[in-house]
Amino acid sequence: MFNLKNKIVLVTGGKQGMGRAHALTLASQGAKVVVTDRTGEGCSVVVDEIISKGGEAVCFKMDVTSKAEIDSVFDEVIKKFGRLDILVNNAGIYNPKPAVEITEEDWDNLIDINLKGQFFCAQRAAKEMIKTGGGRIINIASIASGGMGIGLDGGAHYTASKGGVIGMTEALAIEWAPFGILVNAIAPGAIDTLMSRKVRLTEADMQEFLEQRVPLKRIGRPEEVSAMVVFLASDEASYVTGSTFTVDGGWLAS
Ligand SMILES: NC(=O)c1ccc[n+]([C@@H]2O[C@H](COP(=O)([O-])OP(=O)(O)OC[C@H]3O[C@@H](n4cnc5c(N)ncnc54)[C@H](O)[C@@H]3O)[C@@H](O)[C@H]2O)c1
Repeated sequence: MFNLKNKIVLVTGGKQGMGRAHALTLASQGAKVVVTDRTGEGCSVVVDEIISKGGEAVCFKMDVTSKAEIDSVFDEVIKKFGRLDILVNNAGIYNPKPAVEITEEDWDNLIDINLKGQFFCAQRAAKEMIKTGGGRIINIASIASGGMGIGLDGGAHYTASKGGVIGMTEALAIEWAPFGILVNAIAPGAIDTLMSRKVRLTEADMQEFLEQRVPLKRIGRPEEVSAMVVFLASDEASYVTGSTFTVDGGWLAS
């Protein structure tokens, strides 16, 4: 089960944190991984790590806010591999600020990366997947997304972007189901990456917070989210589309 042998996967924001973990885990399941990020350097380290473990990967600089850059990287991927089977829309930023201090530039920058970037990567991926009979799109949202999820102090723009990702996932799943493209989202809780360290809490306060709010009483590891990515990318998830999967140690349930 969960065999991704020879599937072509593109991960955005793949040089560190969860993106890096997704790239390594997908490669360990046999996928050929295209690792992309705003800058190219960190990506080549991830690619070297995949290759050193016997996997196959290539890297490209791809800033998800630039549709032109998205198109040129996808052109290269199609030229090299002939197809794209799986997109992991992972790139994102979290720039916490009191709502009254968020500038127009802060708002536009965050929404451009977290929401617009995901849409145009998904759109281009779908254009390729339609030609080959289908594929998988996995959008990384967050439990900080309103609705059934949580609000986030200092995260009005972040929460808006992630709520948008969930709504967009549902709309795209409906529209692209006839083409065999399954679109799902993952909503992680607190996961140990550079991003979660931006939360303005001391280590002791963070631990106390986790113990009070998260039933599993600890922060998540990036690989624990990658396991859900692998499931959604696999043939075993063939009847799953338009859903958002929480990976949060029980936070939302508590
Ligand atoms: N860490 C958490 O607790 C947490 C919780 C819920 C959701 N998330 C989401 O998970 C995803 C991964 O976050 P992470 O925790 O690994 O953070 P991270 O900061 O470690 O990694 C984010 C990656 O996105 C890349 N990126 C930023 N702007 C980009 C752009 N314009 N174009 C291309 N790449 C860009 C960064 O360079 C970085 O490699 C994000 O979408 C984030 O919002 C994180």
